[in-house]
Amino acid sequence: MAPHTEQLTRPAVRLTGLTRSFEGRTVLDGIDLELPAGSFTALLGHSGSGKSTLLRAIAGLDHRVAGGGELAAPERVSVVFQDARLLPWRRVLDNVLLGADGKAAAARGRAALAEVGLGGRERAWPSELSGGEAQRAALARSLVREPELLLADEPFGALDALTRIRMHGLLRALWQRHRPSVLLVTHDVDEAIVLADRVLVLDHGRIGLDLTIDRPHPRSYRDPLLGEYRERLLAALGVTEDRA
Ligand SMILES: Nc1ncnc2c1ncn2[C@@H]1O[C@H](COP(=O)(O)OP(=O)(O)OP(=O)(O)O)[C@@H](O)[C@H]1O
Ligand SMILES: [Mg+2]
Repeated sequence: MAPHTEQLTRPAVRLTGLTRSFEGRTVLDGIDLELPAGSFTALLGHSGSGKSTLLRAIAGLDHRVAGGGELAAPERVSVVFQDARLLPWRRVLDNVLLGADGKAAAARGRAALAEVGLGGRERAWPSELSGGEAQRAALARSLVREPELLLADEPFGALDALTRIRMHGLLRALWQRHRPSVLLVTHDVDEAIVLADRVLVLDHGRIGLDLTIDRPHPRSYRDPLLGEYRERLLAALGVTEDRA
């Protein structure tokens, strides 16, 4: 079997009929989804459409999902949020290690910090880091556990445009080196199509569009073919030129 086909037959995440309601209001309405191992998927949707709810369910942080279906995810899952969530009373390396002790763990932590461009900042306090640096430290913390699945909930949402673009390159490079399955929640259609090989749109509790982005990496925002994907995604999000 070709390696590519083999990967596609080994899903990292499999959900069937995933449903979640809050006070009688259905937010996720019977979601079926498979994420192949090692794939890079982005999830778009309006504010309040249930993206974080879906992420939390996959991360195993929500025990009240229902549906009677299947919810299978790997054991080693890391989650990255919009804010870095570093503990202010711990130095950067200790934040990355999160309690893991010993020389081997420290070496892994240092290597992860070097990978995100923070080599030499191990003893800095979180308050001494810029927003982008803090987010890079959060990425190092997520990598140090060698996750099989990386869930990222608008990880670049609070960063300026230039830092964001640098972080895109970094995330893609880290993914290529470690190959976890990635599910990236974002509001940004361009971020989704430049980074991901598949983009999902969550709409009325369902996956309204499931789009494969069949373009080589690294991708340029100016690639005219990406424009066609952008149009389809904006249409699925209900944004048209005259209403934008
Ligand atoms: N613990 C909760 N209790 C009650 N309602 C909730 C809870 N968590 C989420 N919701 C509701 O579920 C809906 C989906 O929320 P969710 O946070 O998943 O949206 P989202 O797509 O991530 O939005 P955003 O893009 O703004 O982050 C919202 O209407 C929200 O109010
Ligand atoms: Mg959210």
